[in-house]
Amino acid sequence: MTDRPARIFLVGFMGAGKSSVAIALAQRLGWEAIDTDSSVEVQEGCSIEQIFRERGEGSFRRAEWEVLIALAHQEGRVIATGGGVFACADHRRWIRAHGVSVWLDSSLAACATRVGTGAGRPRWQAARGVGFRAFFEKRRAIYALADYRIGADRGSPEEVADRVLHRLADRLPTEGR
Ligand code: S3P
Repeated sequence: MTDRPARIFLVGFMGAGKSSVAIALAQRLGWEAIDTDSSVEVQEGCSIEQIFRERGEGSFRRAEWEVLIALAHQEGRVIATGGGVFACADHRRWIRAHGVSVWLDSSLAACATRVGTGAGRPRWQAARGVGFRAFFEKRRAIYALADYRIGADRGSPEEVADRVLHRLADRLPTEGR
C-alpha cells in the first residue's frame, strides 16, 4: 500500500497512550492532533464522566459519532480515539473509509500504570474488578482489526510516534518531518 492517508486514527485500550502519542506524531508530520474525548467534551459542554452518569453510554457513543464524522472535512490529522470508538462496527467502517488505523498495543499492566485510579474514565471504573481481564482481551481482539499494530508498552510518546512513522514511512509525506 502506498496511497497517502489523510488521517491517522490511533486506537487502543484506555491508557495505551493514544493522546500523547497523537501529539508527538502530529508534531513530526506538521499535522494537527485531535482527541475525540476532548472534542466530545467541548461539543457537549460537560465532562465524559458527567455524560455517562447523566445520559448514559449510548448518548456518549452518539456524541463520539458526531465528532468522528465532522473529521470528514479535515485532512492532515492524527486522531486519538477514545478506547470504545473502534469497538463500534459503524465507527470502524467509517475509520477504514477515511484513513489508516494504528493500534497502540499496550499490556493491561502498562495501561493500569498510566490510568492510575481511573478518575474521569467511567468505562474503566465500570469494568475493573472481576471480568476486567476478559473485557481487556475482548477489546484487544477488536483493536487487532486495525491496519497496523505498534507495541506501546515501552518508550516515551515520542519514541512510540517514531515507531509509527517508521511503519508508515512509505505512506506519509516527508515535509514537516
Ligand atoms: C472509553 C475510553 C475513554 C473514553 C470513555 C470510554 C472506552 O477514552 O472515551 O471513557 O469505552 O474504552 P480513553 O481510551 O482515552 O481513556
